[in-house]
Amino acid sequence: MKIDSIKKREQSSSLKSALAVKAALVERVLADLFDRQTEIPPRLKEAMQYMMTGGGKRIRAALVMWACEVVAGKLNRDAQVAAAVVEMVHTYSLIHDDLPAMDDDDMRRGKPSCHKQFDEATAILAGDALLTLAFEILSVEVEDSDKAVRMIRTLSEAAGPSGMIAGQAADMDGPHVNGSMERLQYIHMNKTAEMFAASTAMGAIAGGADEEQLAAMIEYGMKIGLGFQIADDLLDITASTDQLGKTAGKDAEQGKLTYPALVGVEKSREIFEKLTCEAVCALQIFGDEAETLRQLAMELLNRTK
Ligand code: IPE
Ligand code: IPE
Ligand code: MG
Ligand code: MG
Ligand code: MG
Repeated sequence: MKIDSIKKREQSSSLKSALAVKAALVERVLADLFDRQTEIPPRLKEAMQYMMTGGGKRIRAALVMWACEVVAGKLNRDAQVAAAVVEMVHTYSLIHDDLPAMDDDDMRRGKPSCHKQFDEATAILAGDALLTLAFEILSVEVEDSDKAVRMIRTLSEAAGPSGMIAGQAADMDGPHVNGSMERLQYIHMNKTAEMFAASTAMGAIAGGADEEQLAAMIEYGMKIGLGFQIADDLLDITASTDQLGKTAGKDAEQGKLTYPALVGVEKSREIFEKLTCEAVCALQIFGDEAETLRQLAMELLNRTK
């Protein structure tokens, strides 16, 4: 597929409203799941809910639900639960990412970051709590135990020490002024793409995907996940703090190894465009059913926050 046609399709997409529908749905599922948690100490629960409500784009949740819809032809309860827990694990990663010992960021989702609004200990514990609760919820809410175990395994591998945490550890292992492309790919695939692939994989599992469908969803998730982090690196340079809802310009200040730092803005965009094409190709087996996922891949090319 040519990039020209990608851009044209992106502009005419109704993706924004499709994403808004899924975002609203996952907010409701999350609110319901939290309402049932009556034994969490109030300040801890307040910190968890502070970060869980408002501001997140909910892209990973939408991916879970869309993947299920593509595979099964309709959304089901397991995919809604999976969407909620993926956002919980993602939000935990942001709370910890912002801590003074990590990226030391005062703003997140347009508000003071968790440790600024509360305190460091509460932010660490709120992150721990969201991570742990996510797996408890999967084990309780997904009725088919085979599906539950497969989802738990998928998410724990993606978020764990051979996945997102490995990426975060390598990201912290800087400054990276002389990093290699191999190192950069390792960081971005692990810290970000793995969670995108886990999202599409969990949606596919919820929808009863066969091996070929699951592999295609994982391939798509990895490609757009890597592209998503490249866009995040670009936005850190080109967008304002107001626009992003988090502090702009931090990567250069902290000597992070990013695509624009290593290969420049133009080449980063080229790599992004190639990944978009590869992501779209990965969806071929699904035909027209995967149109929204195709649109998402193309929309991410020009996201502004
Ligand atoms: C931010 O993710 C962290 C990255 C992996 C780049 P998002 O940009 O999806 O953050 P929210 O959930 O919308 O706040
Ligand atoms: C973070 O990457 C990825 C995570 C796993 C949280 P960044 O550090 O670039 O994310 P932002 O820019 O703070 O959202
Ligand atoms: Mg970081
Ligand atoms: Mg950060
Ligand atoms: Mg960033």
